[in-house]
Amino acid sequence: MVSAAPLPPFAAIVVAAGKGLRVGGDTPKQFRNWRGKALIRHSVEALNAAGADPLVAVIAADAQDHAKAALAGISGVIFITGGATRQDSVRCGLEALADAKPQSVLIHDAARPDLPHTVIERLLTALSEHPGAIPVLPVVDSLAVDNGGVMSGKAERETLRRVQTPQAFRFDAILAAHRAWQGVTDAGDDAQVLMASNGSVALAQGDERLKKITFAEDFAAPMTAPAFRIGQG
Ligand code: CTP
Ligand code: MG
Repeated sequence: MVSAAPLPPFAAIVVAAGKGLRVGGDTPKQFRNWRGKALIRHSVEALNAAGADPLVAVIAADAQDHAKAALAGISGVIFITGGATRQDSVRCGLEALADAKPQSVLIHDAARPDLPHTVIERLLTALSEHPGAIPVLPVVDSLAVDNGGVMSGKAERETLRRVQTPQAFRFDAILAAHRAWQGVTDAGDDAQVLMASNGSVALAQGDERLKKITFAEDFAAPMTAPAFRIGQG
């Protein structure tokens, strides 16, 4: 049997301080059950198994009890209080690691439970050449520019990519970029924050399994083909 090469050391931040407004309900989506355990637990376990150290979970001030219950029994998780926006929450997580100064950090959405090990490997490999690396997928549909309900112009899909998390960074570069970007407009993601500081971001192959749970129906979505297709007309 060929064993996988050991990964270089890395830290991880799982941001889970959102309210999950689009899913709705009393309990934020990251603490609700998804395939047998709390949504956040899936990716935290995957990162823990891959050797993330330290591993920081960024949680809203009023949800610390939810988080401790959801992650009970996983050793070494550091609980940090998040902020009003995802960008604020990421910065809180980075500041919590400032003294530890890890070489690399993976920043991940708790809302993406299914985190394949192969993606972690690809990202950390790409970091040897660039200060940032993100998982992306191609756009397969054609694109339309919506101008008030009427199509206008055209968008070329060939060079566009769908961006996922985790996103991997050299720690010093992403901490400095987030500090510099604080108070500017809300960035779409951490790769954009790094690019605003002129850091180059490698594009690694993403994975459809990294889909973000965003709407209530995503909790019910089947893993592959819907069950009703099996043995039925
Ligand atoms: N997040 C965070 N802090 C915030 C906002 C979001 O840590 N202030 C986290 C979420 O918990 C989630 C990730 O960022 O894991 C991606 O955000 P999203 O899917 O938009 O989650 P929510 O913001 O919670 O959902 P919604 O936008 O529907 O309210
Ligand atoms: Mg949100």
